[in-house]
Amino acid sequence: MNVPILDLKAQHATIREALMQQVLPVIEGQTFILGQPVLDLEAAVAALSHATWGIGVASGTDGLLLPMKALDFKPGDEVITSPFTFFATAGTIHNAGGRPVFVDIDPLTYNLDPAQVAAAVTPRTRAIMPVHLYGQMAAMEALMPLAAQHGLPVIEDACQSIGARRKVNGAWRMAGELGTATSFSFFPSKNLGGWGDAGLVVTSDESMEQRVRRLRTHGGLRMYHHEEIGFNSRLDTLQAAVLLAKLPYLERWSAARRANAAWFNEALAGVPGVSTPATDPLNEHIFHQYVVQVDRREALQAHLKAMGVGTAVYYSVPLHLQECFAFLGGKPGKLPVCEAAAHRVLALPVYPEMTEAQKAHVVAGIRGFYGA
Ligand SMILES: Cc1ncc(COP(=O)(O)O)c(C=O)c1O
Repeated sequence: MNVPILDLKAQHATIREALMQQVLPVIEGQTFILGQPVLDLEAAVAALSHATWGIGVASGTDGLLLPMKALDFKPGDEVITSPFTFFATAGTIHNAGGRPVFVDIDPLTYNLDPAQVAAAVTPRTRAIMPVHLYGQMAAMEALMPLAAQHGLPVIEDACQSIGARRKVNGAWRMAGELGTATSFSFFPSKNLGGWGDAGLVVTSDESMEQRVRRLRTHGGLRMYHHEEIGFNSRLDTLQAAVLLAKLPYLERWSAARRANAAWFNEALAGVPGVSTPATDPLNEHIFHQYVVQVDRREALQAHLKAMGVGTAVYYSVPLHLQECFAFLGGKPGKLPVCEAAAHRVLALPVYPEMTEAQKAHVVAGIRGFYGA
């Protein structure tokens, strides 16, 4: 039986008609740049995130880069972030002129450990960038007051966590609601995925909104007038149409992922060598990834592959150990929680369209490998 890590063809089959209803008018109208679907998606994602504005951009990467460019870093300015994330988190800090400062993560959620962030603040710190990894939010109730105490903006990397929420001081807060600016990625494999690269920034900070909107179109909103040097990073109208068609399904897709995760947690409980993922009780997780920790990971992966089961490792090399960041002085042993996780994490298929038989096949493979 084949169980890929993700089955986008299965998703597409369920929504083909809805997609075509949104996409065909764009093709017929030939309005490919900043057409109405872009404006509609910006408003819809801002509303979902309890933010005032949405600004569609070319990718989740640019959704981080543009808000950081708006912070006008000076040489030596530091941004505290997680080493256990996709490369873009720190790559954009560098490309915006900042210096990533990696601190260790919480061993259960893999998100920034607020105590480590507090200990890393220096007079050169200019921002904090939490990553809401795998679909659950970082400890915003600790990070936001810490940032406020030092007058620091918070840029949320919510590329994996659109629609996730967390109880902060007793009230549900959305990914994108509390930070100064937040990036969502619509890379095709995300819970809300386009037909190519796409991303969106949400913010409730008026000056941030104006800067990001301007930076998106070469630093000027009036044709041929440029107040600053920006980028070409518009969200494509066709992508916006695809995403608008998919958006009404996002909540049920994420709920189906959550249900699959709960099923796997039960089915894998007690298997020696396997730890199932922890959800912080304050979080509503959207399970962009379902990540277990396992003994003998590479052998298990090979065993599952032979059975037709796709798996993936996010992330095998922490960012402080990447060759390109050697100049920052990261060394093995510096961030032990993150380094230990990097050796043991394994993402299993959790996509909403999985059948009962497919889920059972994954569990049988894992149980068979460990003789459980
Ligand atoms: C945590 C994280 N940050 C940033 C990105 C960058 O997003 P994109 O691939 O849309 O540029 C991604 C997704 O790939 C991500 O998972």
